Amino acid sequence: MSPDKNKFITFEGVDGAGKSTHLAWFAEMLRQRGHDVVVTREPGGTPLGEQLREILLNQTMSVGTEAMLMFAARLEHIEQIIKPALLACKWVISDRFSDASFAYQGSGRGMDWNKLKQLEQWVHPDLQPDLTLFFDVPVAVARQRLANNISLDRFEQEQADFFERVRAGYHKRVQENPHRYVVIDAAQSLEQVKLQLEKIIVSL
Ligand code: TYD
Repeated sequence: MSPDKNKFITFEGVDGAGKSTHLAWFAEMLRQRGHDVVVTREPGGTPLGEQLREILLNQTMSVGTEAMLMFAARLEHIEQIIKPALLACKWVISDRFSDASFAYQGSGRGMDWNKLKQLEQWVHPDLQPDLTLFFDVPVAVARQRLANNISLDRFEQEQADFFERVRAGYHKRVQENPHRYVVIDAAQSLEQVKLQLEKIIVSL
């Protein structure tokens, strides 16, 4: 296959939506079609980012600190991983990106949306995903799925009303910029979700 144009695709959703499971399968499908795919995640993706992830998922902090550490990890991620891969005509698939900061720190924790926009503008003024798959699921279903996890991180331990706000935050982001998103009905079975993803792969 000739080197194709790069693509930056992100996966988003509340904890328990199932996006990480589908991301692995989605990347494999793209590789089978001959694409050079880099799979990465946030917070994380670089050695420093993974150290920040450890702190973010386990230590209590103010929401402003949380947001700035998310964006600090993101800046490193963009410079070390995302931009070099896109420049090399690879496809980058990231498990979460800035939409998660708006949904979790903004809507979930109540941080001013405009401050987050300033951070976004500072950290990646000229980069946005080409496509974001938003795995949308009722909070009750997501929580049921999380109930099987043995250990829950600081975010996963939040109450249902927090996740309702996070979900609403994602919907707000989709409304602000609808052309960038595909909303996946993630309440369906794994097989049905795969059918939805297959259609997206064909369209790509
Ligand atoms: P998650 O994708 O849920 O990791 P895993 O599937 O391994 O549990 O991401 C970790 C958490 O980080 C998740 O609860 C959401 C949170 N998060 C934010 O609050 N803001 C952000 O900007 C990002 C990227 C993640």
